[in-house]
Amino acid sequence: MPKSVLRKTLHGFRPYVPGEQPPDGAGWVKLNTNESPLPPSPKVIEAIKSAANDALRLYPSPNAAPARVAIARRFGLAPEQVTVGNGGDELIELCFRAFADAGERVAFPTPTYPLLEPLCRIHEAIPSTHPTETFDELPPSLGLDPSPLKFIVNPNSPTGALFSAEHVEAAVIASSGVVAIDEAYVDFASLSALGLLAHHDNVVLLRTFSKSYGLAGMRIGFALGSGEIIEALDSVKDSYNVDRLAIAAAVAAIEDEEHHRMLVDEVVGNRTALADSLARMGFQVVPSSTNFVFARPPRPALEVAEALRERQILVRHYDREPIAGWIRITVGTREQHEKLLAALKEIL
Ligand SMILES: Cc1ncc(COP(=O)(O)O)c(C=O)c1O
Repeated sequence: MPKSVLRKTLHGFRPYVPGEQPPDGAGWVKLNTNESPLPPSPKVIEAIKSAANDALRLYPSPNAAPARVAIARRFGLAPEQVTVGNGGDELIELCFRAFADAGERVAFPTPTYPLLEPLCRIHEAIPSTHPTETFDELPPSLGLDPSPLKFIVNPNSPTGALFSAEHVEAAVIASSGVVAIDEAYVDFASLSALGLLAHHDNVVLLRTFSKSYGLAGMRIGFALGSGEIIEALDSVKDSYNVDRLAIAAAVAAIEDEEHHRMLVDEVVGNRTALADSLARMGFQVVPSSTNFVFARPPRPALEVAEALRERQILVRHYDREPIAGWIRITVGTREQHEKLLAALKEIL
């Protein structure tokens, strides 16, 4: 195939190389994509196993109805205020489909989730970026931006910082278009924008089961918003975007609040310990409201990331301003942290 057919690529896209696997198997300490260090609830595994039956010959519920109902119940909303997607990433993409036409602007503060820029290119939308002066301050210019679609990732990635509830609400009030608040990491934070749904019908919250429910491998996320916004997202989604096993997993996960709490508490405890250890080793550490720690090592980030990789430890490093020189480390288990810190002692 001629090379020129490759016109659009999403962040992280690499051509498939036969036989090549990402080094995430046994022996590797994988702290680069913010997965959960703990497994999902045993009730989720049971639910998936019992959904793996003859009914798989049938398409799933087009509305992922059982999951919508369970998620709505959990958040005290109507099922019409919930939609379910193939991961939070699909829901972000649905926002582009529903709310930004080609040539229109899509606004977001930077630095932020690196998927937004390539999605702008694919949808032929124009990124309207608002650089943050400090990682935890939402630029006031974002609210004044007339774009029909805005994203606020809160807590933010890759910085792990939390924008204040007041600033987020001010941006929502000042916006005439839709404001999508990506709350992928919200369960690890001290506040959420859930309360805004009662007063602002231009807000949609995007959530995921990938992080605080330990279900990155199932690919399930959900959106919460007004009936009108949810209808707009549903009108542009694929007919059967969430499969039967994922629906069963979502219901069991959202209903096992005890396991969810345990997982979040463990990650938050390990996060504090990791951040403290890194600070003691001379890293500049951003206070984290997520399941990762964003830190600037006292040596060039690329060298540190490569030296860790040689020791079978994966972290994410950044080489583009304003975050060149920083690395992002997913919060892992205590054993993983011991290996990481021992390796850093050798490297630094
Ligand atoms: C900010 C942010 N939003 C959304 C997602 C999407 O997660 P998923 O598609 O696994 O639900 C991620 C994943 O890393 C993320 O960092």
